[in-house]
Amino acid sequence: MKAAVRRNYGPPDVLKIETVEKPLPKADEVLIKVHTTTVNRTDCAIVTGKPYIMRLFIGLFKPKNGIPGTDFAGEIASIGQNVTAFKIGDKVFGFGDEGIQSQAQYMTIPEKKAVATFPNKFTFDEAVASLEGAHYAYNFINKVKLIPGQKVLVNGATGAIGSAMVQILKYYGAYVTAVCNTKNVALIDSLGVDRTIDYKKEDFTKDHEKYDYVFDAVGKSTFGKCKRLLHKKGVYISSELGPGVQNPFLALVTPLFGGKSVKFPFPSNILQSINFIKGLIEEGKFKPIIDSTYPLEKISEAYTYVIKGEKTGNVILSMS
Ligand SMILES: NC(=O)c1ccc[n+]([C@@H]2O[C@H](COP(=O)([O-])OP(=O)(O)OC[C@H]3O[C@@H](n4cnc5c(N)ncnc54)[C@H](OP(=O)(O)O)[C@@H]3O)[C@@H](O)[C@H]2O)c1
Repeated sequence: MKAAVRRNYGPPDVLKIETVEKPLPKADEVLIKVHTTTVNRTDCAIVTGKPYIMRLFIGLFKPKNGIPGTDFAGEIASIGQNVTAFKIGDKVFGFGDEGIQSQAQYMTIPEKKAVATFPNKFTFDEAVASLEGAHYAYNFINKVKLIPGQKVLVNGATGAIGSAMVQILKYYGAYVTAVCNTKNVALIDSLGVDRTIDYKKEDFTKDHEKYDYVFDAVGKSTFGKCKRLLHKKGVYISSELGPGVQNPFLALVTPLFGGKSVKFPFPSNILQSINFIKGLIEEGKFKPIIDSTYPLEKISEAYTYVIKGEKTGNVILSMS
């Protein structure tokens, strides 16, 4: 089978397309014929090995897995002898934030890991674009007790995380203000947000509105700058550590004072996120945003584009 392979951490051109042996499923595993995967920001961290803290999980000096890839949509090609949850031909999607070697024509995964069938109304492209960003967005929102009608500001609403976040927040009945680039105002409006701030024309940190939550899905702001936007007990969450790696520290200290606080989410329970998103898809309440599609052969180009941090939603890598 064809697969993207790299032997060291580095820039996107460390990735080469090679012919490698097709994996065999163990007794509790399924073999998946991968139709699509995405190139996402988690993949970029896994391929470059940066931030360095990632290497604690994916290999200190060299990547543990030669084949990268964190998500997939595909079909079950064969099953191990103990597998009961899936059958050959099932259309499935899944995600693993430490890498599951999905940037290949075939991959294996234990049936008990984060893999599920996806609703028939979705294509493979739509299914795979409903995973990585949606999982993080769902985990951010779960860190607070959101009440319908509460006001939330989402910075970076056009990213994989942000575009999923605004939709999940609307599903929960929040009043959502989204911050995005001029070129994407119409797209973000179409996701049902209540108000859009174009960051090219306006500095959202100077907004006159007060919010219960500020979610910085692109990690470009700070608690210091956003504090004035928050109600007395408002909460700030960022997808990044912060320019001085301060967010985890602030998450420990700020709750001690009983006022405005910072939370730092460590996303977990991927299968729970997948099942939640699957429910939204079935209800017609989730529309994944797709930026562009690259063939496997152009994987380095796809990574080069995604690393810039300017994609709108998700970048698909097609195996066919
Ligand atoms: N905490 C975690 O577990 C975790 C997991 C995954 C990712 N992350 C981090 O979360 C961040 C977002 O991830 P993602 O996958 O959603 O990223 P992404 O898809 O690359 O999206 C970033 C989006 O932000 C927009 N943007 C860029 N500069 C902006 C600014 N100054 N103000 C508002 N929007 C801006 C970009 O569009 P324009 O350039 O057109 O504006 C783009 O649409 C990344 O920094 C990533 O490293 C964290």
